[in-house]
Amino acid sequence: VHQALRIGLAGFGNIGTAFVRFLQEQHDRIDARYAMPLELRWVCTRNPKRRRSVAPPPTAKRSSDFLDIVRDPDVDVVVELIGGVNDARTFVTAALEAGKDVITANKALLAECGPELALLAQAKGVRLLFEAAVGAGIPIIRSIETGLLSNRIVSLHGIINGTTNYILTRMVDRRGASFAEMLDEASRLGYAEPDPSLDVDGYDAAHKLAVLAALCFGQHVRASDIRIEGIRHVTPEDINWGTIQGLSLKLLASARLRDDGKLHLSVAPSYIPEAHPLAAVRGVTNGIAIEAEPCGVVFLSGAGAGGGSTVTGLMSDLADIAAQRAAGGRGGKALLSLAAGSRGKIARAQIQPDCCLRVTHPEVPLHVNRLERRLKGECVERGASDATYLIPEMKSSAMERALGTLDDLGLDSGRRSKVDFALGSRNLVDADFKK
Ligand SMILES: NC(=O)c1ccc[n+]([C@@H]2O[C@H](COP(=O)([O-])OP(=O)(O)OC[C@H]3O[C@@H](n4cnc5c(N)ncnc54)[C@H](OP(=O)(O)O)[C@@H]3O)[C@@H](O)[C@H]2O)c1
Repeated sequence: VHQALRIGLAGFGNIGTAFVRFLQEQHDRIDARYAMPLELRWVCTRNPKRRRSVAPPPTAKRSSDFLDIVRDPDVDVVVELIGGVNDARTFVTAALEAGKDVITANKALLAECGPELALLAQAKGVRLLFEAAVGAGIPIIRSIETGLLSNRIVSLHGIINGTTNYILTRMVDRRGASFAEMLDEASRLGYAEPDPSLDVDGYDAAHKLAVLAALCFGQHVRASDIRIEGIRHVTPEDINWGTIQGLSLKLLASARLRDDGKLHLSVAPSYIPEAHPLAAVRGVTNGIAIEAEPCGVVFLSGAGAGGGSTVTGLMSDLADIAAQRAAGGRGGKALLSLAAGSRGKIARAQIQPDCCLRVTHPEVPLHVNRLERRLKGECVERGASDATYLIPEMKSSAMERALGTLDDLGLDSGRRSKVDFALGSRNLVDADFKK
């Protein structure tokens, strides 16, 4: 065993530069606490000549070809921070094939090819670690992989995209502000990408949910298995209605094992009761609640993006590998690879959220009885207010019929929309977070 852990870094953007700066500035603490010293051998980036906010140590070689890292026998672990799927997949596959441990922060890559890469790592006797890929420095992956390993996980609910949570929080703070205004503000403050669609349309949260659900439930979950709805259509009325009802509107990622053994997966704007800890997750902060048996509900919250937090996740993976190598070990069982074999229990047709039909027409009380008679047999249950109907595990046809009924009753001027009633089963809330 070499006396230092030798690192090849691919990607020298936001996170890559924060990582190199951390290695330099926290050198003493790392030396004192890590099982072996860390040594940066390569920094690979598309354009190695461009000046960056930090200079790599002179001992680190520079390249624009990540295969240079893969071919170097003196690299023990590669850190992939280039993002995207195609190049990252080629690079990570080549690194694992070459017998190197891999650390990645790339949730899109993991959502697309996580189980395949985890199986390859296992076959090659190396590690594939990704603590920073979901929730950045929030130790969610280790909590599932080791802390809760002995438990049966029943559900996971998370606010795992900071950009959308910032926008929704500001729509509450600045009553009446539109989605577009608050997206502009998020962009000005650097909380939104130049192309915000990955965030605001829910895909980033879906990538992260696919990774978490695979770990929690041992099933291969693809982003395409998840019902995804973003927040572009959220209006100030949606926000105000929630406030009046004591509900917080959040982009909620949910994975829940139903009684029939099927996985229910969704990313959608959802109302959360204000007493639930997820309702208090504000701004760019992330929060994740896991219901496990027999442990109960575990709640983690913190900065889900940014250099400081993401580097914390990467450093945690490096500490793990350093400790294992110092003890003479290599490789290990990857929980994510267990997911590769199992696909049977996700049925897209079954992925239906609990829905809440709101009727905001002022004359609604006059029509309540008629409406209810018409909706009988659709499993309709009266919600918190007279004009709210909770339709559990609703089929889309039931919503169509409900909307048709409103048309028949001449309620065409009322705004109607379909919104998820978060934590719809309500057991998570009632059982553990009593108002
Ligand atoms: N930003 C966050 O807060 C955050 C949080 C958690 C996870 N992550 C993940 O961390 C990863 C990196 O994010 P970032 O914000 O640092 O991205 P970024 O600023 O866009 O940096 C990407 C870097 O990769 C390089 N690169 C791209 N394609 C390459 C290729 N084919 N070969 C070599 N280098 C290549 C780019 O080179 P040039 O600079 O020369 O163009 C750039 O240095 C992503 O997977 C992201 O999802 C980010």
